[in-house]
Amino acid sequence: MSGYKVPIWEVSPVLKVKNLETYIEQFHILQGISFDVKQGTITVLFGRNGAGKTTTLRTIMGFYPISDGNVIYKSEQIGGLPTYLIARKGIGYVPEDQGIFHHLTVGETLLLAQRTKNEEKHEKLEWMLEIFPDLKKYWQKRSGLLSGGQKQMLAIARAYINSNGLLLIDEPSKGLSPLMVGKLMDSILQMKEKSTILLVEQNFFMASNIGDYFYIMDDGKTVHDGYMNELKEDKETLKKYLGVS
Ligand SMILES: Nc1ncnc2c1ncn2[C@@H]1O[C@H](COP(=O)(O)OP(=O)(O)O)[C@@H](O)[C@H]1O
Ligand SMILES: [Mg+2]
Repeated sequence: MSGYKVPIWEVSPVLKVKNLETYIEQFHILQGISFDVKQGTITVLFGRNGAGKTTTLRTIMGFYPISDGNVIYKSEQIGGLPTYLIARKGIGYVPEDQGIFHHLTVGETLLLAQRTKNEEKHEKLEWMLEIFPDLKKYWQKRSGLLSGGQKQMLAIARAYINSNGLLLIDEPSKGLSPLMVGKLMDSILQMKEKSTILLVEQNFFMASNIGDYFYIMDDGKTVHDGYMNELKEDKETLKKYLGVS
């Protein structure tokens, strides 16, 4: 079957979010979020500041209660489960602030991420060191002393080692130099070989270069979706929702 590419609509979704609604205190933040993340894709969630992207990821991870709708991971309903159980199902989460323990070294952080040591975890660690050679180079360095880009790499590697098929990554390019953004883009693209990725990004250059499929959020709703290639040509949508002209 070489050269045959399965059309995206025939690939089963790893993650399915259906009409998700979430309140934070009395505020109705998510008001109907629906999207699929298909196996082996990088699916990008776009949207302006305050659109609800981070809240969507945090709701999937069980940090906020769901007031309506569903989250389905690998055919199993996970909406409403506590965070530790959702993490245990194998969803890896890289938060916006990375959540790195600054006093631990890179090595300690990654060995701790392995928790139970087995062949599979060992292979995952080895692969991350291949994809992010800086982590190997700075193995003994305290995480707090790493550059912003290196911290991001560490956070992604840690989440991947603990995951089992899906990574949620929140704005990895934020605050990074264009050179580092390029480096990170290459690495995330390589990771697609072994993991499905839901990527929140405001950096259109980065996301459009590595994403397969996109959804746009606005005011707590998903308002537009399609293939990334099509979005690049859709000047009106780019201008209206993403401020790209
Ligand atoms: N803890 C909170 N309490 C009250 N409002 C919040 C809280 N967290 C987020 N919000 C509000 O929810 C909306 C969506 O925020 P967020 O999900 O962080 O957006 P994005 O990640 O797309 O920038 C914003 O209007 C924000 O002010
Ligand atoms: Mg955010």
